[in-house]
Amino acid sequence: MKRRALFLIGFVFVVNALGTAPEVYHEGWIDFNKNGIKDVYEDSAQPVEKRVDNLLKQMSLEEKIGQLHQTTRDKNAVKIFREEIQRGDMGSFLGGGEDIESPTIRNALQHIAVDETRLGIPLIFGHDSIHGFRTIFPIPLGQACAWEPELFERTQRISARETSAAGNDWTFAPMVDLGRDPRWGRIAEGFGEDPWLGCIYAAANVRGFQGTNIADPEHVVACMKHFVGYGAAEGGRDYNTTEISEFTLRNFYLPQFKSGLNAGAWTFMTSFNSLSGFPASGNRHILTDILRNEWQFQGFVVSDYQAIEQLVDHGVAADANEAARLAINAGVDMEMVSSNYETLPQQIQEGKVAQSTVDESVRRILRVKFLKGLFEKPYVDETRYKDAYLRPDAIALAREAAAKACVLLKNEHSALPISKSVKKIALIGPLGDARAEMLGCWASRGRPQDAISLAAGIRAKLSSGTKLIVTEGCNITNNNAQISKAVADAKSADVVILALGEPRDWSGESKSRTHLDLPGRQSELFQAIVATGKPVIVVLFNGRPLAIPEISTNAAAILETWHGGVQAGNGVADILFGDASPAGRLTTSFPYDVGQIPIYYNHLNTGRPGIGEFKGNYVDAPITPLYPFGYGLTYTTFEYGKVELSAPTMKAGDKLTAHVQVKNTGSRAGAEVVQLYIRDVAASAGPRPVRELKGFQKIQLNPGESRDVTFTISNEELGYFDPAGHWLVEPGKFQVWISKDSASGKPVDFLLE
Ligand code: NOJ
Repeated sequence: MKRRALFLIGFVFVVNALGTAPEVYHEGWIDFNKNGIKDVYEDSAQPVEKRVDNLLKQMSLEEKIGQLHQTTRDKNAVKIFREEIQRGDMGSFLGGGEDIESPTIRNALQHIAVDETRLGIPLIFGHDSIHGFRTIFPIPLGQACAWEPELFERTQRISARETSAAGNDWTFAPMVDLGRDPRWGRIAEGFGEDPWLGCIYAAANVRGFQGTNIADPEHVVACMKHFVGYGAAEGGRDYNTTEISEFTLRNFYLPQFKSGLNAGAWTFMTSFNSLSGFPASGNRHILTDILRNEWQFQGFVVSDYQAIEQLVDHGVAADANEAARLAINAGVDMEMVSSNYETLPQQIQEGKVAQSTVDESVRRILRVKFLKGLFEKPYVDETRYKDAYLRPDAIALAREAAAKACVLLKNEHSALPISKSVKKIALIGPLGDARAEMLGCWASRGRPQDAISLAAGIRAKLSSGTKLIVTEGCNITNNNAQISKAVADAKSADVVILALGEPRDWSGESKSRTHLDLPGRQSELFQAIVATGKPVIVVLFNGRPLAIPEISTNAAAILETWHGGVQAGNGVADILFGDASPAGRLTTSFPYDVGQIPIYYNHLNTGRPGIGEFKGNYVDAPITPLYPFGYGLTYTTFEYGKVELSAPTMKAGDKLTAHVQVKNTGSRAGAEVVQLYIRDVAASAGPRPVRELKGFQKIQLNPGESRDVTFTISNEELGYFDPAGHWLVEPGKFQVWISKDSASGKPVDFLLE
């Protein structure tokens, strides 16, 4: 039964831009192709694959190519793209204007696609929500340091709720690139240097974004990016070439992607880099041999921004024709922003590209559009955004996440926590009263005015009897400094907090560094304040590990807080004053010096391990990091007993348990992240790392309390991939550690028979 003018879609009434609507909307179905009958693709009772088939059969070649095209939208998008959409030349938009306009603009664009094209295929709208949309949570690297995948899942669920309210169906996250090089600015967007932990977080992120049903309007489609090897850019310089052996690729760079896929991620994004001799965005080996054939991925692959066009710049394609050919044949389904795929109709006619290749790409994109429910609900509720952002539950979670991201690196003489009854606190440093900087890189629609600075967070803790003085001391990046005033303030105070770090736009895309120290005159400020003789509590805000040996030696306490999001100030103040205990542990190593990079805990042994003559040491620096992976203190202390195994041998296919007694030996309750590491001592396809994380448990213990912590070891924790992608579990000796970080503990051995 047809209706006129107003049509019920979900619970929302929508009218198209002209105030009238074509007769396409019916009770329970939409006549996308406007032929008056319910086609299979218009029938939600039909299986998705049948609907895809039916639609694909009705499409012209031009309409198919249109589905492969994505471009950016802003507030003028309706005007700019109307004709292009009407012609059927558009499959998707990314970006999006201010949150207030974007659901309306999305619906207006969608109406053009549905009402004014022959087949009415809905557009899919993507957006970069990396660590929140309007409620900004800590940068992913910080969230990873909480060692709480379930918390990460919850922050991404809120992110999905807000992102979708603004008219988006899809987020370009999680970024699961392994980060071993802190010079690379995008290390902030990932989870750190460990693939096992990366897998856990990849899956948690996907669950958070997609929920159990991606058609749910409050969830968004996840995108595993950047496939693959992006984080290994030479020199830490963004977009740079990477050389990764197949062995290393399989064991370090690929697993996180597979884990996201297993968790149900429906899209992948290619990476900008050249991977071992060929650009990833035209790399058939990774996109088809591995992703499609080995892993059986059924969703679609989008290129990164203009990455297909850049195949010409890379030097593997002479022109747009060749770039398009390479990319589509490699397995890139959707082209982001550039329009090389416009050459495909001609190339198909000339027999240079198979029609079936294009059909397959269109099929994958349509599949996701059907699964997302766009053929049932092409439009979003334009009013939902009004109370979708910064809701109380989101703010409370942001505060919890900001506190849990904190890693206590040093705490001499219990400088922390600070007593709330001190008379005078001096908060010194360029990040003491900063708001925008709290948001970190890729902060989507986060607004500085929503962010709580550290000063505001501290102020909220203090009673009227305590005075807080806030002094910048120096600018964050340039030469401006008023250090003498800062010194005077420090001298007059009972407690000195120094808020130092990096501006938020020094990490993220295209934000590589050659130095890893504090920018500007911050080191000078630190030295001057230390020279007062006051114990100095350093609070760091940064998007990457820093090389801070001097601070490590001379500060009384160091709290690494990353860029903590809109509630950074409150979350960090909770830690500083002991209302929450620091429970974070590093997921990325802190070097002494940039010259040690790359430095990561799960490295291979060499033929000459250790330190000494004709060993692989530096003459001017240690070979160990300043703070290792897994490291972090809290306000109490924990003692580990002896690690015991349930048996000295294990049969293939069997299980073994490893356990240890952990005791809280301090005077406060606290959380410990008990970590399981394993080493395969001799492996036939190539050496295995000196240690690999294979489990952890975050436990909470009261003073004096002990807990027996048990891990089950199965073949899953013992195997590795050979260069061809076969999973090998080989008999022989294995070492097991249960320890507080990757550098401590004593191994026990067992034999796999
Ligand atoms: C380029 C970035 O590399 C990618 O991560 C992002 O999703 C796209 N731009 C879209 O903004």
